[in-house]
Amino acid sequence: MLSKLPPIVDPRALISSGTADDAGVYLLNDDTALVVTLDFFTPVVNDARDYGRIAAANSLSDVYAMGGTPLVALNIVCFPDGELPLSVMTDVLLGGNEKVTEAGALVLGGHSVSDREFKFGLAVVGMVNPKRIVSNAGAGVGDVLVLTKPVGVGVLATALKEDELSPEGVAIITELMATLNRAASEAMLSAGAHAATDVTGFGLVGHASEMADASAVTLEIAVPDVPLVEGARQAIEKGLAPGGLFLNQHYYSAFVESRTRADGRTVELMYDPQTSGGLLVALPEGSLGAFDGALNARGGESWVIGRVVERRDRAIVLT
Ligand code: CO
Ligand code: CO
Repeated sequence: MLSKLPPIVDPRALISSGTADDAGVYLLNDDTALVVTLDFFTPVVNDARDYGRIAAANSLSDVYAMGGTPLVALNIVCFPDGELPLSVMTDVLLGGNEKVTEAGALVLGGHSVSDREFKFGLAVVGMVNPKRIVSNAGAGVGDVLVLTKPVGVGVLATALKEDELSPEGVAIITELMATLNRAASEAMLSAGAHAATDVTGFGLVGHASEMADASAVTLEIAVPDVPLVEGARQAIEKGLAPGGLFLNQHYYSAFVESRTRADGRTVELMYDPQTSGGLLVALPEGSLGAFDGALNARGGESWVIGRVVERRDRAIVLT
């Protein structure tokens, strides 16, 4: 679809839609570039304010994945007039505003239209030093792969829709999805990470394979080392999985060499579409201590899930 559009050849467009990166980057001057992105989606939780917080954390994430700092944001709202009271929209906007404020950025405005299904998200503009952009294209052979949030919120959000998730489970996924990737982003910058992307709709394997292709390497991921959200395993065993998981698996498994002895259910979670997932970061092994130190000091967590190897036939090897 995008290939039918004219190519972007302007030298100020440092990163554009051609490379499947997280956000566009536009050079202003030698020291400053703008990072621009937008995202919006239908409600993932029942609480309006939490939905706003999650949507905002998700929209800000693409700026963080590039090593940028969010500056300003605009709300995008599709609202079912007459079906929901306007106070619901207010609560969603308050939740979004709370997260944008936490990010140190400002909501300057927005636009709403009437629509049958509620949708919310933000367009975000951030800033990055053009010499310090962390794209998905810099992963080097020998780097370790680190993930900053567990996977499985897609499966658990499906359980919630089916009324099969406990209040504790709802609280866990809400907090995970509403957590900004700010700490992870600052930690990767201070540790000199080579590449990063956020794990969202294409699942861990999908986003990892984009990083592998952009970096011309293969990523080896140790399935037993990938952290899972509490309850995700049980939910997928009960057949609670979003349609997107199987679409991801159908599409991306062609780029995967499987050597893993992990069971099929656990492997399926590697394709689980995430909302506001963590960062997948490639960094030199020697920088791992600096990364962990910086992340822990900011209250974040991380897991080493694999390493970068020379390019093979397939983009991903699951072990
Ligand atoms: Co992204
Ligand atoms: Co995005």
